[in-house]
Amino acid sequence: MTKLLTIVGARPQFIKAAALSRVLQEDNKNRIQDLILHTGQHYDSNMSEIFFAEMQIPKPVFKLDIGSGSHGAQTGRMLGGIEEIILKEKPDGVLVYGDTNSTLAGALAGAKLHVPVIHVEAGLRSFNKRMPEEINRVSCDHMSTLLFTPTETGIRNLKREGIVHHPQQKLDADHPGVYHCGDVMYDNTLFYKKLAEEKSDILNKLGFEEEGYFLATMHRPSNTDDPKHLADILHALAAVAERHNAPVLLPLHPRTRAIIERRKDLQLPPDDRLRLLPPASFLDMIRLEAGARLILTDSGGVQKEAWFLEKAVVVMRDETEWVEIIEAGNGRLSGPDPAKIVDAAAHFMAEPPVRFPPIFGKGQAARQILDVIGSANWR
Ligand code: UD1
Repeated sequence: MTKLLTIVGARPQFIKAAALSRVLQEDNKNRIQDLILHTGQHYDSNMSEIFFAEMQIPKPVFKLDIGSGSHGAQTGRMLGGIEEIILKEKPDGVLVYGDTNSTLAGALAGAKLHVPVIHVEAGLRSFNKRMPEEINRVSCDHMSTLLFTPTETGIRNLKREGIVHHPQQKLDADHPGVYHCGDVMYDNTLFYKKLAEEKSDILNKLGFEEEGYFLATMHRPSNTDDPKHLADILHALAAVAERHNAPVLLPLHPRTRAIIERRKDLQLPPDDRLRLLPPASFLDMIRLEAGARLILTDSGGVQKEAWFLEKAVVVMRDETEWVEIIEAGNGRLSGPDPAKIVDAAAHFMAEPPVRFPPIFGKGQAARQILDVIGSANWR
């Protein structure tokens, strides 16, 4: 039996963990024991508990309740807490997702104790080291023994940094195993799309019809923490609403809400153009995405969900890890520039993309990952 310690802490990680948990519960119970550790990076109930309940993720066995803080303090507290649990539990591997501070702390704790690190969503790069996520993901990849990339681009990025597959060897952090397996988030969208249609009544509750609104999200520090960027984006979203005669719905990440509330100078557009909402549950979010005319976001996950649901996306960043979406012409990078946001939205309203080839796999990523974990020569 392989004993894994899975580290989660932030909203996108709960969502990714749900895909693996589902397959684990279906038919891997006898091969893999998975202990979930929740760092507490995200702690509001609508950022955390609601996902465990709605997506039926097993309750965390360990909770660190780290909470917010500066990057150093937050990551440091996690590192100490995770180390203690690894020493006590002696797992065969530490599994981490994505690129958050919880990912970095989990990878560092495992690697320093010579416990193999398994990185799901490896190989992604924005090539912008001012993003905390870029520092986290690059560091994590270089400490990992098993790396699972969602896209071909991920494999190429790793190769450029000297991280290649070592087929003949017992795998370790110096001789890692690198696998292209598709995106666990695609598994989730396929699984939850129909359920969301049946179970989520968010459109009714808000009083909107299919295609009767735009959907936006925003939480990147480069957008929220710069006073000009934040004001520019909010007003650009309102301009999109006015031009196309449909409001923009904006479920707010708590970091963005807190900043907006602190900014006394900020003039918010009227409610019928820009509707601020609390964070959505996963089913509600999928429903909102599926019904939107167009999606505008700075989130990595929401960009991909737009693709999975065959929607165009305006990426309110200067670069993206999901370059395939831009290269296909189904997404446009706007940064925080209001003219670019409005232009990109107008472009997609006039010419909605129609081709969405299966570049994120076949919706079987979690199964492939668990098959490799069950059979690769890494222990
Ligand atoms: C983190 C990840 C980011 C991921 C995002 C998804 C890092 C460096 N960033 O960003 O990669 O895309 O999660 O949501 O790990 N807060 C609350 N309640 C919560 C959680 C956060 O109020 O439940 C507020 C706090 O004021 C906190 C701030 O949000 O200080 C930022 O939270 P933090 O965990 O540092 O990073 P995120 O911006 O959420």
